[in-house]
Amino acid sequence: QTGAFTYDPGFTSTASCESQITYIDGDAGVLLYRGYPIDQLAEQGDFLETAYLLLYGELPTKAQKADFDNRITNHTMVHEQLTRFYNGFRRDAHPMAILVAVVGALSAFYHDSTDIHDPKQRMIASMRLIAKIPTLAAMAYKYTIGQPFVYPKNNLSYAANFLHMCFAVPAEEYKVNPILADALEKIFILHADHEQNASTSTVRLAGSSGANPFACIAAGVACLWGPAHGGANEAALKMLEEIGSVDNIPKYIAKAKDKDDPFRLMGFGHRVYKNYDPRAKIMQKTCHDVLTELGIKDDPLLDVAVELEKIALHDPYFIEKKLYPNIDFYSGITLKAMGFPTSLFTVLFALARTSGWIAQWKEMIEDPAQKIGRPRQLYTGAPQRDYVTIDKR
Ligand code: SDX
Repeated sequence: QTGAFTYDPGFTSTASCESQITYIDGDAGVLLYRGYPIDQLAEQGDFLETAYLLLYGELPTKAQKADFDNRITNHTMVHEQLTRFYNGFRRDAHPMAILVAVVGALSAFYHDSTDIHDPKQRMIASMRLIAKIPTLAAMAYKYTIGQPFVYPKNNLSYAANFLHMCFAVPAEEYKVNPILADALEKIFILHADHEQNASTSTVRLAGSSGANPFACIAAGVACLWGPAHGGANEAALKMLEEIGSVDNIPKYIAKAKDKDDPFRLMGFGHRVYKNYDPRAKIMQKTCHDVLTELGIKDDPLLDVAVELEKIALHDPYFIEKKLYPNIDFYSGITLKAMGFPTSLFTVLFALARTSGWIAQWKEMIEDPAQKIGRPRQLYTGAPQRDYVTIDKR
C-alpha cells in the first residue's frame, strides 16, 4: 500500500469514527498499526515498542523507548490496599470477573489521574493502566489458585514479568524461559489493537461521556469477555477439547452448518475479515515455536485444529460464507501449552488490548470535535396510545 488510503464511500457512511491508529482490509487480510504491518511488528517481539507506536503514532527513538520502558517498569506495582479487593471474591471466581472489578477500582486509588481534561493526568493514567494491568491480571490468577501474589520485578521485560508473576512461587527460584517470554511478547502484540471492535467501541463510548480512564477500560474488559469476542479463545480451546479427535470433526462441521443449531466453530469467522486473519497465521507459527520449545511433539489439540482448519477451508459452506480462522483459533492451544488455564486466556487478551484501548481513548479525548456518543435506533415498537387502567385490561 502506498500513499493515502481512499475509503469506499459506502464504508465511510457507516464508519463509527475516524481514526489514525489501526487499519484493517478485511477482504485482503491486511492489518496495520499506524501503517506498520502486524507481521513486521510481531517479528520484533517488543510489546512496549508497539504500545508506544499505538499511543504516539511513531516508532520510538532509542531514548524515547528507554524513557517509556522506564515509566512503565516503575509503575507496575499496585497500591497495597488494592490487594484486599481480591479477598472479597470466592476462589472459584472467573479471573475476568475479578479483572473487571479491580480495573474499575483503580479510579478509587489514583485520584491524581482521573481528570481527562488535564493532558498530564491523561498520560499518567495511561502509563498506570499499561503498567499495572499485567500485575492485576497475574494477581487474579494467583488468587484463584490459592497462591500468594508475586510482586513484579523491574529487571524483567513486560511479558517476562507477567510470566514471573503468574508462575513464580516463594518456595523456589523461578527462571523465565526466554523463548516463552518472546512468544508472549508476540502474542501481546497480535492482540494489542484492532480498530473499532466491540470492546474498543465500548471504551470510546464510555470515554465520550467523560468517565475516567480506569472506568472506561473496565467497561472494555467487561465487553471483551463475551464468547463472540475476546472470550472466543477460551471457547475455541473448549471446542477443540470437546471434538477430541480428528474422527469427530465432520460431526462438528455439520453442526456449524446447521441453521437450527446455535453451534459456531469458535475461532472461526469475523465481522471484518473475509479472508485469513493475518494474526492467525502468526499465532499458528508462534504456537509451533512454543510447542517445539516445550518438547511437545504431537499435541492432539493441535492435530484437531490443523485438520479442522483444512476441512473447513475446503468446505463450500465456509468458502461461500468467507469463514476463516481468526486470532482465537490457535491462541488457546499456545496459552494452554505455556501453562495458563483456559479461564486466563481472555485475561491475557484484555492485558494486551489495554494498550490499544488506551490509544483509542486518548485519540478520542484529544479530538477537539469529540462529542458524547449517542447512537440512535430504528423504532419498531407500538405507536403512541393512551393509558388503560388495570380494571379495563
Ligand atoms: C474477535 O471485531 C474484532 O475485531 C474482534 C477481534 C478483535 O481483535 O477485537 O478480532 C477479536 O472477537 C475475533 C472473533 C472471535 N469470535 C469467534 O471466533 C466466535 C465464533 N465466530 C462467530 O461467532 C462469528 O464469526 C462472529 C461473531 C465473529 C461474526 O459473526 P457474524 O457477524 O454472524 O459473521 P458473518 O456475518 O460474517 O457471518 C456470515 C455467515 C452467517 O450465516 P448467515 O446469516 O449468512 O446464514 O456465517 C455464519 C453466520 O451465521 N458464521 C458461522 C461462523 N461465523 C459466522 N458459521 C459457523 N461458524 C462460525 N464461526
